[in-house]
Amino acid sequence: MSMYQEKLERLQQAPKRWLITGCAGFIGSNLLEVLLRHDQFVVGLDNFATGYQRNLDQVKALVTPEQWQRFQFIEGDICQPEHCQQACEGVDYVLHQAALGSVPRSIEDPARTNAANITGFLNMLIAARDAGVQSFVYAASSSTYGDHPALPKVEDNIGKPLSPYAVTKYVNELYADVFSRTYQFHCTGLRYFNVFGPRQDPNGAYAAVIPKWTAAMIAGDDVAINGDGETSRDFCFIANAVQANILAAVTQLERSEVFNVAVGDRTSLNQLFSAIQQSLLQHGVGYSKAPVYRDFRAGDVRHSQADISKAHTMLGYQPEYKVQHGLEQAMPWYLALSR
Ligand SMILES: NC(=O)c1ccc[n+]([C@@H]2O[C@H](COP(=O)([O-])OP(=O)(O)OC[C@H]3O[C@@H](n4cnc5c(N)ncnc54)[C@H](O)[C@@H]3O)[C@@H](O)[C@H]2O)c1
Repeated sequence: MSMYQEKLERLQQAPKRWLITGCAGFIGSNLLEVLLRHDQFVVGLDNFATGYQRNLDQVKALVTPEQWQRFQFIEGDICQPEHCQQACEGVDYVLHQAALGSVPRSIEDPARTNAANITGFLNMLIAARDAGVQSFVYAASSSTYGDHPALPKVEDNIGKPLSPYAVTKYVNELYADVFSRTYQFHCTGLRYFNVFGPRQDPNGAYAAVIPKWTAAMIAGDDVAINGDGETSRDFCFIANAVQANILAAVTQLERSEVFNVAVGDRTSLNQLFSAIQQSLLQHGVGYSKAPVYRDFRAGDVRHSQADISKAHTMLGYQPEYKVQHGLEQAMPWYLALSR
């Protein structure tokens, strides 16, 4: 049995109370699903800035009525300290996911990104510290590697941020470190590398590449590739990210730490295009158009690949899904959404 399975079984025998901020979003709603399936008590906080009621409804349909009874939703904003305080009451573990994602969004509106990602983050840290929660796990980002050229990315070697979004995620890490030194309140940052899977929003100007391309291929629309297609990423299926969150929450560390959360592989955008095409074909959806190449996008790093050995050694993290396997799992959800 893996370390993860073992921890899940132990949690199921002695359920805890969790707070998921951003629980109506992509990653948050997947965390909610897994925790409820394992009989945990969950408080969810979200203001629906980019999340959806339909994500919560889908989770409701996937768990038993008894499990759903263990979920309490608070519609609220992490920019309001009192909402954070209310949400943290009596909580054992916090999984802080609420933030405004997307590099281009932050370039368009840095102030709004700053408010949610820095002020909101600080409000949550203070509320969690004051409520005496056992662990605080937060969504950090691979964008913190910025212009550092080394591959694979190792936690201690970061460069200069390339976007306002990257600044906010780096500031989160700085605050977490200072709270550890100043108040002995230890937090764990998970630097996600391009997470994908069911319930990731395919719509809007700031959609991530996998849901956006998949939706375009299903609709028979053009697929645009920014740059020459050789830009690469370490795409990480959502189940791997969920595993990292749960392991991080139940592992007591002696100080604040950050961990890469990915697979440790690198897939170019050209390879990704073919992989999505193949996965759709397996579901009877053919797509024969060639991709449309356009300019590189401001603020994007060229290559990204994680060294995941720190998370493996300190948390017991072992990603179970590679890209192709994850795409196969995600396709039915995108197909259902398009119908
Ligand atoms: N998806 C990825 O590949 C990826 C990569 C790196 C980091 N992250 C980080 O992971 C976290 C979750 O991302 P996601 O992909 O699930 O995005 P998402 O947009 O689907 O989810 C974010 C959720 O936070 C909520 N939210 C935003 N501002 C809020 C506020 N002020 N108060 C309360 N709720 C608020 C949104 O409504 C949404 O439900 C974010 O912190 C993001 O920066 C994601």
